[in-house]
Amino acid sequence: MKYLIDNKLKKYKYDCVISNIFENNTINSNLINKELIKKEQQKYNFKAKKNQYLIIKPCNNNILYDFIILGSGKKEKINENIFIQIIKFSFKLIKENNYKNIIYLLHNIKIKNKNIYWKIKNIIDTLENLNYKFNIFKTYNIEKKQTININFYLNDLNEYKEAKLSIQHGYIISKGIKKSKDLNNMPPNICNSAYIAKLINKQFKDKDNLQLLFLNNKEIEKIGMNAYLSVAKGSKNQSIISIIEYKNTKETNKQPIIIIGKGLTFDSGGISIKPSNLMHEMKYDMSGAAAIYGIMFIINKLKLNLNVTGILACSENMPDSNSTRPGDVIKTLSGKTVEIINTDAEGRLILCDILTFIEKFNPKIVIDIATLTNACKVALGDKFSGLMSNNKKLTKKLIKAGLETRDYIWELPIIKNYNKFLHSNIADLKNCSDKSFAGAITAACFLSNFTKKYKWAHLDIAGTAWNNKGSTGKPIKLITQFLINYSNFLKHK
Ligand code: BES
Ligand code: MN
Ligand code: ZN
Repeated sequence: MKYLIDNKLKKYKYDCVISNIFENNTINSNLINKELIKKEQQKYNFKAKKNQYLIIKPCNNNILYDFIILGSGKKEKINENIFIQIIKFSFKLIKENNYKNIIYLLHNIKIKNKNIYWKIKNIIDTLENLNYKFNIFKTYNIEKKQTININFYLNDLNEYKEAKLSIQHGYIISKGIKKSKDLNNMPPNICNSAYIAKLINKQFKDKDNLQLLFLNNKEIEKIGMNAYLSVAKGSKNQSIISIIEYKNTKETNKQPIIIIGKGLTFDSGGISIKPSNLMHEMKYDMSGAAAIYGIMFIINKLKLNLNVTGILACSENMPDSNSTRPGDVIKTLSGKTVEIINTDAEGRLILCDILTFIEKFNPKIVIDIATLTNACKVALGDKFSGLMSNNKKLTKKLIKAGLETRDYIWELPIIKNYNKFLHSNIADLKNCSDKSFAGAITAACFLSNFTKKYKWAHLDIAGTAWNNKGSTGKPIKLITQFLINYSNFLKHK
């Protein structure tokens, strides 16, 4: 899809105008033939209730385009949710009627506390999300991709600059989300750690503000990240950590914000093997890493004035005679020893070594993003990612960014007392509790043993990162908004 602003409408170019109308109201636009609409409204007893619509194809040589009028309910009830519903509905009608060149008026709807920047950005996000398809493995019945041009016609030309910026941002952000989804949706026989490393190299190599670093099995071993390596002992695919350093501040030594993504290209559970129903979904256990890919793409294109290091912590958890066993004891990079109780609690083993490793980068803030526990999915469902943090200010900022982008998070407490569930008789820690008890929090408790030296937030995206259609791209919008806000905050400091 293509987005532009055009207030000097050239005749013949457009095939349809899309507007909304509230109950007992008229449409406020000179693009719409009010008389004609009134007639049609009466003819069809159209009351402008939500989900009611009119498509008018004027048989009049002076009117060159069709009208779609979307009923929007009572004017005083409009809010961001209803707004998004209206946008979704417009997409359905565009597709059904095969319109290609659209004069869009829905961004002119007035919503309390939402400016043109928010509205256009959310329109682009909503439309791109609906238009997304992953069909590279289909060999027949493939729907051809056609370009749809959306022209935002501004009622108020004072909004031009903001609208333009919003199109630019919205477009870049949805492109990053699309790239991330494509990667996340790839099947695990193709998408392994090496595949991801190659993709990162191709996407980010030789770019001005970027520096890449890749660590393979040998290098990971040399550093002493034994917990990390223990996860893929049973996999023939080697583990590779891809690190993307983005630097775009004047003082080059500025402490970086580090974002880490769990990148299990497949999680069978290992020797503690998972039940077979829904096991195929565990290709999405790399959703965190896929999010990092999208976020780094976006911040580089937006040229944010920040230093951000993105880490894709890739691995694969498979059963084999070389696999790590329940009962094994491993020495982590931090020096702490861990008794493996369940080889399916592998994400935290990957993360704990990375969380120690990054101390040497002297981070300002660390955020890890992981499909870490089924318990989080059970607790919060698919609308809220779980947030656990050791810092109140960081928590607040993340929650705010979630509200701004509708990519929501909900805080769960890290309860120190729950550390007792990780007590091992023979090692410093167990990798998980043997009780089915506060699973999301005990996982965060485990991680918190390795994050004492910096401000840290952990996002558990097990419930939000994919749905029955595939990857959702969460929490890319949340984290990019957090970073945009942070770079503005630095600007004004
Ligand atoms: N990748 C899974 C978590 C997961 C499960 C995400 C289902 C999405 C849907 C993780 O590695 C895992 O297996 N966690 C275990 C931990 C348990 C063994 C303590 C879990 O949640 O069951
Ligand atoms: Mn697992
Ligand atoms: Zn996992």
